Amino acid sequence: MERMRLDKYLAQTAGLTRSEAKQYLKKGRVCVDGAVIKKPETKIDACKAAVTVDGRLCQYEKYTYLMLHKPQGVVSATEDKQEQTVLDLIKEPARGLFPVGRLDKDTEGLLLLTNDGALAHELLSPKKHVDKCYYAVLDGPVGEKEQEAFAEGLDIGDEKQTLPAKLVPAGRADAPAHAPSAEGTVRSVQPESVKTACPANPYGVFITIQEGRFHQIKRMAKAVGREVLYLKRISMGSLRLDDRLSPGEYRPLTEEEIAVLKGE
Ligand code: URA
Repeated sequence: MERMRLDKYLAQTAGLTRSEAKQYLKKGRVCVDGAVIKKPETKIDACKAAVTVDGRLCQYEKYTYLMLHKPQGVVSATEDKQEQTVLDLIKEPARGLFPVGRLDKDTEGLLLLTNDGALAHELLSPKKHVDKCYYAVLDGPVGEKEQEAFAEGLDIGDEKQTLPAKLVPAGRADAPAHAPSAEGTVRSVQPESVKTACPANPYGVFITIQEGRFHQIKRMAKAVGREVLYLKRISMGSLRLDDRLSPGEYRPLTEEEIAVLKGE
């Protein structure tokens, strides 16, 4: 049983804001199990109640899956005393929502938020080797030597070397198929700080790793003598960042995205 206020339920299932939900309720447009209900604070069993808005049945999903384009400057946590968190960006967070893994405060890009612990475990488990692809702007060029070092695995100061990773300069033919063209990427994601640091050539690369160690990309770059000036995650497993989402925006995953992610 999942007891929930009716206005919150409507906000989660009918695409309404809480104030719109209150208006709909006031006007008698909402029925619960066949009876018109007008009070927003009415508690319902979200898993069992048949709720209609203008006669259309709402679908309550047990789990929520949101794709967030994490902006820079927010922390990947559910709560924090000082900093704005990714959960603060969500208007009506479903109960138990949390970020699947972490991006650094200054990293932007794809972050999945869910309350489906089993899926999160599948995606984060070190044994599963789920690919995570990042676009990074480095402080200088990298060539075959660095690519080979990434492919072999690097000593980044941990007990074990990193697993093999792929480093591909943006714009090369073997850049990830879903990655935007180097020029487009550099234009669209290049922040002011990068433009200032490297006006003519921002040294964009795509890096795909199979793990999710602390500051992994930055430490791998450092191991080959480079600094990361800008970092954006563009995919995780089968899930790709929707380029219609601006930093700070989010959307529910589609049925298909959920099914593919779960390997169904
Ligand atoms: N690697 C990093 O260094 N930072 C991130 O946020 C993600 C991967």
